[in-house]
Amino acid sequence: MSRTNLQSAKHFLSMLGVITAAGYLTSCTHDDRVFTPPTLETPAQVSTQVAYDATDVAFRFTWKSQKKLYPSGLPNTGKNYPMQFHDMLKHDGTKFDRLPSGQRLEEDRISIMFNQQAGGIQGFSAAGCAITCHSGMESHHLLTDDILDHWHWRGGRSGPMGYAEDAAVNKTERIRDNLGTMPTKFLRSGGDRLREDQGALSGTGHPVLTDGLPRFVFNKGKSLPGNFTIPAYFLANESNTILSNPHVDISAIKDVSKNRSLLVVYQDRNFDTQDKVNALDLGYLVYVALGSVGHLPSHLRDENSNDFNTWKSFSATESKITTATAALTKLNEVHAEWTSSQKMAMVTRSVGFIYNSDQHDITSERFYDQSKNEWTVIMKRKFTTGSERDEDLAGLRNGSKYTISFAMHDSGAGSETHDISIPYSLSNTTDTDIRAISVGSIQNADWNSIPALETNWVKQALMPKYTSDWLKSGAHPGSGSLESTTCGTCHTGAQSLLNASILD
Ligand code: HEC
Repeated sequence: MSRTNLQSAKHFLSMLGVITAAGYLTSCTHDDRVFTPPTLETPAQVSTQVAYDATDVAFRFTWKSQKKLYPSGLPNTGKNYPMQFHDMLKHDGTKFDRLPSGQRLEEDRISIMFNQQAGGIQGFSAAGCAITCHSGMESHHLLTDDILDHWHWRGGRSGPMGYAEDAAVNKTERIRDNLGTMPTKFLRSGGDRLREDQGALSGTGHPVLTDGLPRFVFNKGKSLPGNFTIPAYFLANESNTILSNPHVDISAIKDVSKNRSLLVVYQDRNFDTQDKVNALDLGYLVYVALGSVGHLPSHLRDENSNDFNTWKSFSATESKITTATAALTKLNEVHAEWTSSQKMAMVTRSVGFIYNSDQHDITSERFYDQSKNEWTVIMKRKFTTGSERDEDLAGLRNGSKYTISFAMHDSGAGSETHDISIPYSLSNTTDTDIRAISVGSIQNADWNSIPALETNWVKQALMPKYTSDWLKSGAHPGSGSLESTTCGTCHTGAQSLLNASILD
């Protein structure tokens, strides 16, 4: 599936080469947006395709998953696998908590930033995020007063649910929704994105409180689309038994098509109309069993409030439990499952979106080729959303040029690999790096007939220099022409920033 387009891609690249050779020979002195990719080992590290129809656009990325690099000594270090799990909770002897920082789990991710070139953000078209975003790798803020659209597909926190996070960055922050509607709001008084704030219960009256179990576990026995029944209250491994050692179990989990990896306890029912509210709220069961509210967030402690009553009826419908006896039985079952795993069971920390917003309008598809350790991810959105945080991509239909750069995060432990691309131009014309192709419907686009830009990530060793401070400094020979000449114009061939050697 992923490399069958190689022929057309190669054809496309050789055409690009012909078109761009003339521009390149005139050296790095003029604004030539067409980039000649360097001679690459095959396959390249990442392949990018873009298709659009009358209303929507689709971006397709294919890239190799890297070996988990660190820390050394864990059973899964040095192994390749699709990371469809992120930071989880495990019992530490007192309560459910995150793994120690060196052993945490990071999902694989891919993200894109793009901006129309005409009237776009100062410097972005030539230099991309290197100039507009980073004063160092710690900071992902713009250096101008604009808003830059940022799509973020996450292997654990959005991919399994079929969407990507539609964020944006401005001068001070990565912008996210601060609203919050039910039932995401049941967790906190504010709303917004995928949260990792599920903590342990505390209190007295039942072992789930005294032992510090998590408030949300999976709704075992619930039927989900695709004839899948949730197998356990806690995370299950490939054979649907309780996952108790992530560093052993996870490296064996290669099949991303199993619903097992619907890791997020809540997911929007309006957005994709499929019921993916996977959670059983132990906080609700404790309330029904004991009548107490002290273990709940403050906005759910007033039994006369709207929040409380909306939460109560939602949870009753979800759990089908309304009597103290039934609640107690269920709590005991959950506790027993945890005990029978030698108190090693794990649970997700993530909570998904539950309401429509401009941060939640990208659908996604994912595929992982185990034989090649290769992800293919497609992200789709309407050209025009009307949100000021979203780039209007309708210009793709009439030849407008956009600049796009993308980044990949790969599984590590407490930290992870972060690979970035240089900026590329995108349009439906031939004088561009990535050629967007008009199709009847992006839902059934024939990706084999769509040209791909095949390229490599910026060398890891160069990342410390990938900051606006260094690039604009006298130490960088290209500093004088950063905003008029693309990085790719100068950094090709022998001088390339790109290198295939860090991957298998
Ligand atoms: C006008 C040409 C030109 C442009 C445009 C340009 N550079 Fe450079 N850059 C150079 C040259 C020449 C060097 C020195 C190459 C060498 O040391 O081998 C260099 C060096 C670098 C280095 C250090 C390489 C090393 O091996 O230490 C990095 C990183 C870099 N450039 C990044 C970028 C990025 C990112 C952009 C776009 C934002 C960019 N450059 C735009 C000409 C350019």
